[in-house]
Amino acid sequence: MMGDSPLLVEIGFGRGEFLVSLAKAYPQGLVVGFEVSMTSLLKACSRLKAENITNVKLVLFDAVFGLREFFGPSSIDTVYMNFPVPWPKKKHAKRRIINPPFWLALANVLKPAGTFELMTDVEWYAQEAAENARLTGFFDVHIERNPNRRVQTKYERKWLDEGRNIFRVVAKRVSAKTPDVERLLLAGGDYMPHAVLEGHFTPSILKMLEGVEIKWERGAFGVREVYVREKDALFRVYTIDKGFFQAFYVWLRPYSPDSNNMYLLKLDPLTSPFRTRSVLAVMSYIRDHLSSNGFTVIRDNLRV
Ligand SMILES: C[S@@+](CC[C@H](N)C(=O)[O-])C[C@H]1O[C@@H](n2cnc3c(N)ncnc32)[C@H](O)[C@@H]1O
Repeated sequence: MMGDSPLLVEIGFGRGEFLVSLAKAYPQGLVVGFEVSMTSLLKACSRLKAENITNVKLVLFDAVFGLREFFGPSSIDTVYMNFPVPWPKKKHAKRRIINPPFWLALANVLKPAGTFELMTDVEWYAQEAAENARLTGFFDVHIERNPNRRVQTKYERKWLDEGRNIFRVVAKRVSAKTPDVERLLLAGGDYMPHAVLEGHFTPSILKMLEGVEIKWERGAFGVREVYVREKDALFRVYTIDKGFFQAFYVWLRPYSPDSNNMYLLKLDPLTSPFRTRSVLAVMSYIRDHLSSNGFTVIRDNLRV
């Protein structure tokens, strides 16, 4: 049973009708919605505003990543996913959300006895989801045909009225054990990675980093371009952590307007990557290149 102030998550909320109904049904709860479409997000925002709803947070990001990275173990009461695209073709199968790693992440973030509810009008999709969930060993799973839910989506009501079949997969976390799921984001991830260096600003030394590509145990990183001005430089870099790609800028600038030969290496404020180990790795690589070319590292917090 859910407590008084449950934490609820909806994956792919679309225009947000279900999100609004959920927020109203659980006024003491917090509802977090993930969506990748900006158009949908804006529509849902207007809906929430018009209805004066304040217990919803919308996140414009991939829900699979967000569920694993933004929530602690055993923290969510229920996760809902309504009518996702099933991606029926074999070559698109990897786009299906309900794959084995998703179920493990879900078993990690759901509270014990927390549930996942999937609605779909595609029977094989419901069966595949249930099968993958069962295989993890963390869930008790069943499929209901044409259930009468407390909160329904617009299409769900319409289809039920039309007599079409729809399916609800309910997966309840039954294992007391939480699976180990590695997260990519570093704890305290809002900190500012940086290095303070002392040395002579030499454009040719900075330009040497252009085109660097490094593979390491966590993934990869590289420097695509280096833009140098009289006293500062921007590095256009990328990182990959276990397949998670980010592109952003690292900035080398004078430590202060009057500092002589003191420089600060930091993330450029225009881009804000998630703090991962590959982000620290690319910055450490730039720091080490500078320190091998006449700079002294005064201090840094780049512990990869
Ligand atoms: C077919 S629509 C269903 C929308 C809504 N749930 C409904 O029942 O009307 C699927 C929605 O999921 C969103 N979506 C797809 N993949 C997603 C992901 N990885 N994370 C978050 N949202 C996603 C899509 O942008 C789309 O709005």
